[in-house]
Amino acid sequence: MVKNTSISDIDGEKGILWYRGYRIEDLARSSTYEEVSYLILYGKLPNKKELDEFTERLKTHRDLHPSTVEVIKSLAKAHPMFAIEAAVAAEGAFDEDNLKLAEALRVGRYKAEEKELAYRVAEKLVAKMPTIVAYHYRFSRGLDVVKPRRDLSHAANFLYMMFGKEPDPLVARGIDLYLILHADHEVPASTFTAHVVASTLSDMYSAVAAAVGALKGPLHGGANEMAVRNYLEIGDPSKAKELVEAATKPGGPKLMGVGHRVYKAYDPRAKIFKEFSQDYVNKFGDPKNLYAIASAIEQEILNHPYFQQRKLYPNVDFWSGIAFYYMGIPYEYFTPIFAVSRVVGWVAHILEYWEINRIFRPRACYIGPHDLQYVPIERR
Ligand code: ACO
Repeated sequence: MVKNTSISDIDGEKGILWYRGYRIEDLARSSTYEEVSYLILYGKLPNKKELDEFTERLKTHRDLHPSTVEVIKSLAKAHPMFAIEAAVAAEGAFDEDNLKLAEALRVGRYKAEEKELAYRVAEKLVAKMPTIVAYHYRFSRGLDVVKPRRDLSHAANFLYMMFGKEPDPLVARGIDLYLILHADHEVPASTFTAHVVASTLSDMYSAVAAAVGALKGPLHGGANEMAVRNYLEIGDPSKAKELVEAATKPGGPKLMGVGHRVYKAYDPRAKIFKEFSQDYVNKFGDPKNLYAIASAIEQEILNHPYFQQRKLYPNVDFWSGIAFYYMGIPYEYFTPIFAVSRVVGWVAHILEYWEINRIFRPRACYIGPHDLQYVPIERR
């Protein structure tokens, strides 16, 4: 089943990504996550008044229900993705708008009033996701939570809630950029999951909680962690050739952060984050040689016939972990930050799908036997 969408598009052969028709390079250069979120949700770039009002609404919705905070606290020792999944589901149970919308959907009512409600619920999910992730980080380290600050941007406030201090502007810019680059990507497994759950007319929080569960898997989120671990393990650019050669041998380990199901050219997001990583190490240094090692690996890949023949290029995960590592973000929070960004894509796809909703019901191709004779247990 192919779903029509006007949210994002990828030309995998040429390495182009568009959000609502705008090239990712232009958005990365000139926009912010708040503006991109508005674009993805409402299908057009906002004017100043629309953006200001939207940003204010996001700030208003950052807080969590006290019981959701307790859920996160009770999962302080669990991997953050478990806590995020549970917290999103819990918050949905306390959000009156979500419950009202779910009830309307249940009786088949989805008119102007309900659509307005659905957009409000969608905005709330975008606003709350950073708070959920940051609170889990604080609890996991036995720290008190840091309440959101209204004077900070989405990205800067997220870092403030995690680390308890206002971030350096370049660090905040890096997170903002990462959030822009991951906001939507057509229909990967997590977005598909959100569609499937929403198509049953379940509530929006439940669909997003399920999408978090899909994102948790290492085949979807998380290759940036493995890429950084590789760089740290080899420790020196001179070892790049050996690492790359090993990945070309039959049964050899795959190079993490390389290759993509859709891109058969250099991932445009990788190019953008590579540039940012360079700016980052220029300002703060590269004490573990991570940027230098990644650059050396990239050179080996680009010149190697194995990767050229298979059209394998660095993907966004090849570069994104380096800055995260130097920012002091623990590995287990790499995928949660992906969720902080992608939540806007998930909810936009849900809103788009509810316009034409039809339950997903794939058929299976049964390959077992039929009409077997039932044998009583004492005779088996
Ligand atoms: N290193 C070495 N060889 C590779 C790699 C790699 N990273 N990726 C693919 N190949 C090889 C395969 O072994 C296969 O070789 P063969 O034709 O000799 O059998 C060929 O390239 C085609 O690979 P597929 O597995 O068919 O490619 P697919 O589209 O199914 O997989 C995937 C894409 C999963 C991303 C894969 O490239 C991979 O595992 N990469 C590493 C993990 C990674 O970086 N994931 C992040 C993806 S981006 C994101 O989610 C943000």
